[in-house]
Amino acid sequence: MADSDFPPTFSIPTEHLHISYFQPDDPAHAAFLVQLWNTDDFIQSCGKTGIDNTEKAAKFLRNQVQAGYKRNGHHQFLVSLKPHVGATLSESKPIGIASLMKGEPPNAYSRPDIGYTILPDQSGKGYATEAAASLLEYAQKSLGIDGVFGFCGKDNKRSARVLEKIGLEYRGQRKLKLFGGSESAVYALKGMDQDLKVYGVDDDE
Ligand SMILES: CC(C)(COP(=O)(O)OP(=O)(O)OC[C@H]1O[C@@H](n2cnc3c(N)ncnc32)[C@H](O)[C@@H]1OP(=O)(O)O)[C@@H](O)C(=O)NCCC(=O)NCCS
Repeated sequence: MADSDFPPTFSIPTEHLHISYFQPDDPAHAAFLVQLWNTDDFIQSCGKTGIDNTEKAAKFLRNQVQAGYKRNGHHQFLVSLKPHVGATLSESKPIGIASLMKGEPPNAYSRPDIGYTILPDQSGKGYATEAAASLLEYAQKSLGIDGVFGFCGKDNKRSARVLEKIGLEYRGQRKLKLFGGSESAVYALKGMDQDLKVYGVDDDE
């Protein structure tokens, strides 16, 4: 797929939000990623990404995010807050990320996992749930995705709660190869096989 298949005008609109593609050439998108991934809240929950300046962020958006869009039709999406009901994407302000990721080869798996981050000053308002629920619906209806995982740190109660609220079910704690063998809570859409190895999700044993 070409870059033009992921236009800046595309949006999945929700009641309060727009979910859209990151644009590697938009300096505001790179700057926002640096802001979002370097809050104390994010670093405490998810650790340091190493993306601490706009050059690194733009490179990441091009080499990872855009490459993911081309490979799978999805990766990290920008979440923007509407200033008023019915506001357009261009009127809205970035507040977070919602993602559908498949891991990186050789540890990639066959169904994506859903993820999210919301700026601390916009957390606790239901926006992660609203974005993730809409992205899940889009994945199923528009991308034909029939299974979705959710992975979160075993102490990340807020993230676990979002996964529960969008309808994923708990499948236990696993030491996943994907995360270098560190323990993760695993959630999956109802109906997905109990044996996660069929999706390429292997314990690190
Ligand atoms: C996790 C995160 C995305 C949640 O965003 P959010 O917009 O605040 O989420 P929501 O408001 O939609 O839902 C949060 C839920 O967690 C609940 N919650 C908050 N703190 C909690 C805690 N300590 N224990 C249990 N539940 C908690 C809230 O009450 C809410 O559930 P409710 O609607 O049943 O009351 C946000 O806190 C964040 O970006 N954290 C840092 C990055 C991160 O951890 N990302 C997930 C990686 S797996």
